[in-house]
Amino acid sequence: MRNKIGVGHASVGELEKKYVNMALDAGRLSQGEFVHKFEKEFARLHGKKYGIACNSGTSALHVALEALKEKYEWPEGAEVIVPAITFIATSNACLHAGLSPVFVDVDPVTYNINPALIAGKISGKTVAIMPVHTFGQPCEMDAIVEIATQYGLKIVEDCAEAHFALYKGNPVGSFSDIAGFSTYVAHTITTGIGGVIITSDPDLTEISRSLIAHGRACTCEVCLASSPQQVCKKRLTTEIDRRFMMVRLGYSYRVGELEGALGLAQVETRDQIMSKRKNNAAYLNQKLAKIAQYIQLPTFPDYVEHSFMMFPLLIKESAPFSRQELTAFLESNNIESRPMLPLLNQPIYRQLFGDIESQYPVAQHINKAGFYVGCHHGLELADLDYVVKCFEEFVARFQ
Ligand SMILES: Cc1ncc(COP(=O)(O)O)c(C=O)c1O
Repeated sequence: MRNKIGVGHASVGELEKKYVNMALDAGRLSQGEFVHKFEKEFARLHGKKYGIACNSGTSALHVALEALKEKYEWPEGAEVIVPAITFIATSNACLHAGLSPVFVDVDPVTYNINPALIAGKISGKTVAIMPVHTFGQPCEMDAIVEIATQYGLKIVEDCAEAHFALYKGNPVGSFSDIAGFSTYVAHTITTGIGGVIITSDPDLTEISRSLIAHGRACTCEVCLASSPQQVCKKRLTTEIDRRFMMVRLGYSYRVGELEGALGLAQVETRDQIMSKRKNNAAYLNQKLAKIAQYIQLPTFPDYVEHSFMMFPLLIKESAPFSRQELTAFLESNNIESRPMLPLLNQPIYRQLFGDIESQYPVAQHINKAGFYVGCHHGLELADLDYVVKCFEEFVARFQ
C-alpha cells in the first residue's frame, strides 16, 4: 500500500534541528531571542512592525479582538462581520472576546467573504470586518478596505491559512489594524502548535503582549527578556515588581524558545516551502482540468498570489455523484480529504444561532459539496500523478 497522501505536512529540516538544539543548549526555554527574532521577521514579511507569538491562531485572533476592544472601548456584544465559510475559530474568537459575529455569505468561486454583501449586514453596532483568506487565497481587499473606511470600521485579518500570500503585491496581514496567523502543524509554516499576531500599532502591541502574559503591566524588552543582568528602570519603583503586576484580566497564551526556533527556521526556508506548494497546486489544476465539468477547481485572478495551504474543490451541482461518494473513494485509495470548513451547520452553532444555514445559499452548497485535498511541499510529482489518476478513475465510472 502506498503512503497516505495527507492534507498537510510539517517539514523538519536541518535548520529547524540546528536552531532547536541551539535553544536547548542555551538553557532558556521560555521566551527569548528565538521568539523575538521569529516575531520580528514574521511581522516584517507581512508588512507590519510588530509580531507577538502566541500559543495558537485562535489565541492570536482572540487577543487581537480584545486589544481593539480595549483601545476603542467597544461595548459588550458589538458586532463583527465574518464569512459564513471559515474554520470555526474565526467566529469563536469573536465570542470569546465578548463580541457578536455577524455572518456574510461567501463568493462561489473564491470561497472568501463576498464584499458585495457586507454593507447589507452593517448595523449601528458593527465595529469591525474580519476577512479570512481561506486556503491561501487573499480576499478582495480593495473592496473590503473601501467599505471599512466608508463605515469607520476596523479590519482584523484572519490569515491563519495564508502565510505570505499577496494581494496586488502586498502581503496578507498588511491591510488591517491587526491580524492573526496560525502556525499549527498543517499550516504553511509551523511551530507545531502556535500563532502570531501582527500589527504596526504600539498600543495594540502593548495590550496584546500584556494579554498573552496574564495581563502584566510591563512588556518592555528588558522585562520580557527577564534578564538577571538588566533591570527595567520602572520595575522596582512600584510596590509589586512590574513584571508581576497585573493590570488587565489576561491569559496564559505565551510560547517558548523551542517554538521560536522552529518558527525562525521555517521562515528562513519559506521560499522552498512556498514554491513547492504553488507548483504542486498549478500541476493539479492543470491535470484535473479534464474533470472540471464535474468539479470546480481553484480559480484566482492574476493580481493575487495564492499560497495554497490546501487545494480546495467543489462538486458542481450537475455532477452525478456526491462529495461523500468521491471522498470515500479517495480515502479508500489512501488520499486524505476534509470537508471545506463547515461553519453554520456545526451542532454548536445551530445551538447558538439557530437554523440559519439556508440564509447563506453559497455556504450551504459548499457545506454539502466542498472539500479539500493536500498540495503541500511534502508531495512529489508521483504523488500528484497518483491523486490525478484516482480522480479520473472515479469520474470515469459516470461517463
Ligand atoms: C481560518 C482559520 N482561523 C483560525 C484558525 C485557528 O488556528 P489554531 O488551530 O492555531 O488555533 C484556523 C486553524 O486551522 C483557521 O484555519
